[in-house]
Amino acid sequence: MKNIAIFASGSGSNAKVIIEQFKLHKEIRVSVVVSNNSNAFVLEIAKNENIPTIVVSKEEYTNGLIMNNLLLPYSIDFIILAGYLKKIPIELIQCYPNKIINIHPSLLPKFGGKGMFGIHVHEAVIAANESITGITIHLVNEEYDKGKILFNTSIPVKTDDPFQLQKEVLKLEHEFYYKVILDQCCGEL
Ligand code: GRF
Repeated sequence: MKNIAIFASGSGSNAKVIIEQFKLHKEIRVSVVVSNNSNAFVLEIAKNENIPTIVVSKEEYTNGLIMNNLLLPYSIDFIILAGYLKKIPIELIQCYPNKIINIHPSLLPKFGGKGMFGIHVHEAVIAANESITGITIHLVNEEYDKGKILFNTSIPVKTDDPFQLQKEVLKLEHEFYYKVILDQCCGEL
């Protein structure tokens, strides 16, 4: 059994799909949900499923060793970032080498890096007149949005409404993220 921790800051629609998909899974268990935001809806989702939650303060989420200590009781094998908006401290990355997975709502390296989160990504894609966009699932290393790419897939940009585009891209995220997690954690896609 692989234990995963989901880190999320907001609505947690990706977290919800992951929790649902692995609810009765034989090889993966969502063991804890971690958030920097005590109002994050993802905490409700976790509580409804009886999954332990941890709300981390700034003092905690900026300190990799504290974060590592908080995770120790759960014997975490992989950390899954799902809309987690804080930087992962380097010490935590070093404690989980190639064991932290992130999803980004664009075709990296395009539209990644600082400031590229949420609706800003989709606004930038439309402003740049891109004909395609998509998702990128990647390992997290010391450089923001630059770890090894595990998976990407694209869709055509057919709208000039960033919210519509966000909706379409989110659908892709829900379809593929848990499958890539499964592949990476247990080697079965
Ligand atoms: C997603 O677009 C994800 O790619 C990005 O943050 C967003 C989180 O959405 N990293 P949700 O909280 O899972 O709905």
